[in-house]
Amino acid sequence: ALRRAGNVHWQHLDVDKAARARAKGQQPKVLWFTGLSGAGKSTIANLVDKRLHALGYHSFILDGDNVRHGLNRDLGFTDEDRVENIRRVAEVARLMTDAGLIVLVSFISPFRAERQMARERFEDGEFIEIFVDVPLALAEQRDVKGLYRKARAGQIPNFTGIDSPYEAPTAAELHLPAGEQSPEQLAQQVLKALRLD
Ligand code: PPS
Repeated sequence: ALRRAGNVHWQHLDVDKAARARAKGQQPKVLWFTGLSGAGKSTIANLVDKRLHALGYHSFILDGDNVRHGLNRDLGFTDEDRVENIRRVAEVARLMTDAGLIVLVSFISPFRAERQMARERFEDGEFIEIFVDVPLALAEQRDVKGLYRKARAGQIPNFTGIDSPYEAPTAAELHLPAGEQSPEQLAQQVLKALRLD
């Protein structure tokens, strides 16, 4: 169980989010990409980020593979660890939107309850859930990192889609048919939804 600190009060900060956002000339947002391993979350997030950057927006990507090398290096892939992984990432994303950024979050984030928990950390309209939807069979066939093959061989326990669940979103703001279109087309759809195309 997590130990909770007692006697900790909330410190009011005079420069608030709206002031920072005004200074940057942008609305803070979280683009929360969710989907199976190998669905294309990171590829699409990168393309969107590149475009946002080119347009002069201040954005940043939080990516599962990278964050798990640093902040979350103590976490594995049990249900409990994934829950904690997503909790921390939602908190970091929250800090980044408080700093006025557009944050692209690219994690499998397999559990509906944790995505909902993340959503609740943000203001109305700020959190945009983007379901990068590929059939498991296709992700497995592509197997870009060779992880599905290892998982099927029993070398990676708790692998999403194999012996660990993925709960598909039912009400995501954006549903990307990632098995049918190129990453460029899908990134374009995201930009269009953000009215940045
Ligand atoms: S989660 O479920 O949100 O906590 O996962 P995430 O932090 O996004 O990490 C997923 C990446 O870790 C690699 N990997 C695994 N994925 C799923 N299940 C298991 N057991 C596992 N072990 C390692 C994998 O490369 C994932 O990367 P992506 O980019 O999603 O393919």
